[in-house]
Amino acid sequence: MNTVVVGAQWGDEGKGKLIDILSEKCDVTVRYQGGNNAGHTVVVEDKEYVFHLLPSAILHKGKSCVIGNGVVVDPKALLAEIDELAAKGLKVSPKKLKISDRCHIVMPYHRVLDGLREQKRKNKIGTTGRGIGPCYADKVTRCGIRMVDLLNPRVFRAKLADNLREKNETFRKVFGQKNYKLEKIYKEYLAYGKKLKPYVEDTVLYINKEIDKKKKVLFEGAQGTFLDIDFGTYPFVTSSNSIVGGVCSGSGVAPTKIDKSIACVKAYTTRVGEGPFPTEFTSKQNDFIRKKGNEYGATTGRPRRCGWFDAVLVKYSVIVNGIGELAIMKLDVLDGLDKIKICTGYKYKGKIYRDFPTDYEKLVKSKPVYETLPGWDKPTTKARKFTQLPVNARNYIKRLEELLGVRVKYISVGTKRSEIIMR
Ligand code: GDP
Ligand code: IMO
Ligand code: MG
Repeated sequence: MNTVVVGAQWGDEGKGKLIDILSEKCDVTVRYQGGNNAGHTVVVEDKEYVFHLLPSAILHKGKSCVIGNGVVVDPKALLAEIDELAAKGLKVSPKKLKISDRCHIVMPYHRVLDGLREQKRKNKIGTTGRGIGPCYADKVTRCGIRMVDLLNPRVFRAKLADNLREKNETFRKVFGQKNYKLEKIYKEYLAYGKKLKPYVEDTVLYINKEIDKKKKVLFEGAQGTFLDIDFGTYPFVTSSNSIVGGVCSGSGVAPTKIDKSIACVKAYTTRVGEGPFPTEFTSKQNDFIRKKGNEYGATTGRPRRCGWFDAVLVKYSVIVNGIGELAIMKLDVLDGLDKIKICTGYKYKGKIYRDFPTDYEKLVKSKPVYETLPGWDKPTTKARKFTQLPVNARNYIKRLEELLGVRVKYISVGTKRSEIIMR
């Protein structure tokens, strides 16, 4: 059984927690897109870990983790993450972690360009500044540097020289910046290659062999469906396919080998960075939920924008990802609210639409149509069975199931591993 977990909103749905739990029953966990723009939180007892490039299953003994070819790797950030875990007593061995030789490398000029482009833009995206967009752009324009290139000094040098010839000109003439020196980057990145070499292999062969051996593979999506480059609120998106479809191109596993797709959603909605957000709260409500849900970005620390659950948006995710099961996270954050709203349609120029619009103006000008449900007083964090939840919390979940046409299998009621209901 091979399963994919994707975010169905704008990221930060709680994928890290869910992956940590599900990976206990799987053999291999694979990241297939994104880079260290991701921040996936796992809480074990009173310790909190935030993973950016390492799959969220890395804490489990005897399980292997893969960084698939679709991921863009900042080698400095990855080595820092590995070192940080080692300092906490968790050694990440090459047996445990495999990195695809086809991963594209985030170079220093990508990070700088990410920032410079944002500065120049009038309509800012609010990127994480990790160089993700420029790195994927180089992949597509066919001048990217791959993990395998870092292991071959001659190829690496030639590719880097070619890149700098073009990029230095852009940096100088467009942005008024200084030239990058080839020798400095060459030496630094060759050294990263040397350090990472033991982990690097053709992970396509590795994952598919494990599947042939009937091992269970879990695919860990980063970001969310509405940050997907094709299906998100473009251009306020990331630069990869974060949807289930991204698994195939990002790991080299065929669609016929994927058995189940799980959508991870928050019991409400959040977004970090710029872009349309129809159900966004007014500032007072925003402050309340942000404080209660500790809604600050796990990567950049930026405050997250918060709003009501948007069933129009998640319904689109269910379609695009072929979702079979839902995981509703952070239900406990809604405890104590008098009333809870669900967006079931968008009103635009007097008409109500039930499908998520592509047109930017329509999205921005639409007014959400809400259904209001009664809230609940009793804390939910101690519930371990569905029947232990307050009746109004159960009704909220059941209504989401009806609206989305998918069964809710997991309900998370706190940050810890144990704080989850499995139906
Ligand atoms: P990811 O990017 O999807 O892995 O999510 P993040 O780690 O960026 O953000 C989710 C945040 O919510 C983290 O701080 C988690 O510890 C926290 N979290 C996850 N599930 C729950 C839950 O059920 N209740 C509460 N209160 N917090 C949760
Ligand atoms: P996880 O995996 C939430 C957002 C950024 C910005 C846009 C583009 O933790 O859910 P980028 O740096 O990717 O070019 O930024 O995407 N973004 C995320 N928002 N969670 C994430 O990852 C995100 N990764 C990128 O805030 O709006
Ligand atoms: Mg996150």
